[in-house]
Amino acid sequence: MSQSPLALVTGGAVRVGRGIVLALIESGYRVWVHCHHSQAEAKALATEHPDGIAGVCSADLLDANARARLASVIGPRLDLLVNNAASFERGAFVDRSDDDLRRVLELNLVAPLSLVRSCLPALRNAPAASVVNIVDLGARNPWAGLLDHSISKSALETATAGLAAELAPLRVNAVAPGTVAWPADGRAPEGSEARARLLARIPRGQIGSPEDVAQAVCFLARASHVSGHTLVVDGGSTAALGGAHA
Ligand SMILES: NC(=O)c1ccc[n+]([C@@H]2O[C@H](COP(=O)([O-])OP(=O)(O)OC[C@H]3O[C@@H](n4cnc5c(N)ncnc54)[C@H](OP(=O)(O)O)[C@@H]3O)[C@@H](O)[C@H]2O)c1
Repeated sequence: MSQSPLALVTGGAVRVGRGIVLALIESGYRVWVHCHHSQAEAKALATEHPDGIAGVCSADLLDANARARLASVIGPRLDLLVNNAASFERGAFVDRSDDDLRRVLELNLVAPLSLVRSCLPALRNAPAASVVNIVDLGARNPWAGLLDHSISKSALETATAGLAAELAPLRVNAVAPGTVAWPADGRAPEGSEARARLLARIPRGQIGSPEDVAQAVCFLARASHVSGHTLVVDGGSTAALGGAHA
């Protein structure tokens, strides 16, 4: 009997990460769900999908020791690492500090790379393993008031291509979503001008969903000759606006 492929999804308990976990289970993976604060949500996922969830592991990815422990619990084989967890810190450049930038880079850039390094032996034990990094359209066209975030995602996109070259035959790809879930901080509430402005820039006339990102992850996980690629999931906004984005 063939073994189910194993995936680790960081930030897998809520929102986009949860969508990725559910889609991977649907396509035959057993998934390690990493979480930080959302432990109750992660445990609920495990209860709802006892066969699909390989385990729940909690770690603050800002903490290098916690990252190392996370890699050590997943066991000797890993078919897919999805670096999804990230912050979304806002603020005008002049109001933010060097420490703010360092914290964003630590979580959104250093942590994913550190996880790739520590999971590498397990990834190399799986014949067709790959890594998918979740970046952001802001990686290419910085969002206003989100410079640190955009820089971190831009660097992660560059790292995706670099790692694809350096770690082959391991495949390393990225997904760059446009808006796929309204900001959790309550910005752009329903009926607001901010929401209408954003929607007007998306040719499909609606934001995407966590499931849209999940579909792209599942595709890249099994696209056996695709590596170093970033798949944009933005309802056509980048194409329509010639580089500007929603
Ligand atoms: N939402 C969008 O429209 C959108 C658009 C473009 C790109 N993206 C990207 O898609 C990914 C998911 O987005 P989202 O909107 O679902 O994010 P979110 O709602 O802000 O959730 C962030 C996730 O990261 C985890 N996380 C945050 N800080 C952490 C820390 N210090 N240590 C460990 N985990 C930590 C959280 O875990 P806990 O909840 O367990 O604490 C949570 O699962 C991110 O990479 C984001 O940049 C999202």
